[in-house]
Amino acid sequence: MAFQITKAVIPAAGLGTRFLPATKAMPKEMLPVVDKPAIQYVVEEAVAAGLKDVLMITGRNKSALENHFDRVGELEAALERKGDTVRLQKVNYSTELAEVHYLRQGDPLGLGHAVLRARMHVGNQPFAVLLGDDLIDERDPLLTRMLQVQAERNASVIALLEVDPSQAHLYGIATVEAADARTAGDDDVVRITGLVEKPAEGTQLSNLAIIGRYVLRPEIFDILDRTEPGKGGEIQLTDALETLAADPSIAGGVYGVIFRGRRYDTGDRLDYIKAIVQLAVERRDLGPDLRPWLKQFSSTLD
Ligand code: G1P
Repeated sequence: MAFQITKAVIPAAGLGTRFLPATKAMPKEMLPVVDKPAIQYVVEEAVAAGLKDVLMITGRNKSALENHFDRVGELEAALERKGDTVRLQKVNYSTELAEVHYLRQGDPLGLGHAVLRARMHVGNQPFAVLLGDDLIDERDPLLTRMLQVQAERNASVIALLEVDPSQAHLYGIATVEAADARTAGDDDVVRITGLVEKPAEGTQLSNLAIIGRYVLRPEIFDILDRTEPGKGGEIQLTDALETLAADPSIAGGVYGVIFRGRRYDTGDRLDYIKAIVQLAVERRDLGPDLRPWLKQFSSTLD
């Protein structure tokens, strides 16, 4: 299915303080998840959904990102000399994966500000935003589904995940109502009636959390431009989306796609370790040896 949307924006300017000292001199997006940097999974996901034009919003100390998606002549020549075509292919794959552009965020004013920086590149067309802390399993093509819903409803679309109420304060939380069904199998689509960025612990708004995938209409830029700093003193994308959701006459409002597939959080250390184990267990080259070892190891834990 062909979509008119071609551009993906990946905010990657964060300092990665939760992973210090690993991130002292290296961007957190380059932390390996098994044997690939986290950022490559995200770019692969965008490309798999047909979005080959990728804009990364970066900052200081992020040159490793540019190097990763660029040629590395010396290494390529060395692998060629050795006839190591398998590794050469791995090296070239990330170079040729997408058309990657880079823009520095400048002032670290929050996710909303990072997205607003994409305005000149994106222009007046809908676009996707992918946050690097959330990895979506390639077997569960969430972004493709969101692009489809965006095309059907000509609105903005966010990804939602049902979370335990005790976790709600870690996310943007959505209140929703049923959306009019457009096609059979539309039961994963809801209309957003309200959004709150990281509500105080114990607030019971809903159990639907925003995960880091958005397909946005360009009207979001004007709204972001007017959005005052919110939670943490930062310009929040969630707050701008709340404004958009409140008045569907501006740009069709906001819809949510409830994701029931496999998602791996790499945002903090514990989740990152879990993500690596989950992904490695499923790998054909590593899983068969890792699985029995894990079972044996876990039996020693008590
Ligand atoms: C961001 C968003 C939040 C969303 C989360 C998903 O927060 O602001 O609404 O729920 O990503 O990962 P962050 O985790 O970057 O603080």
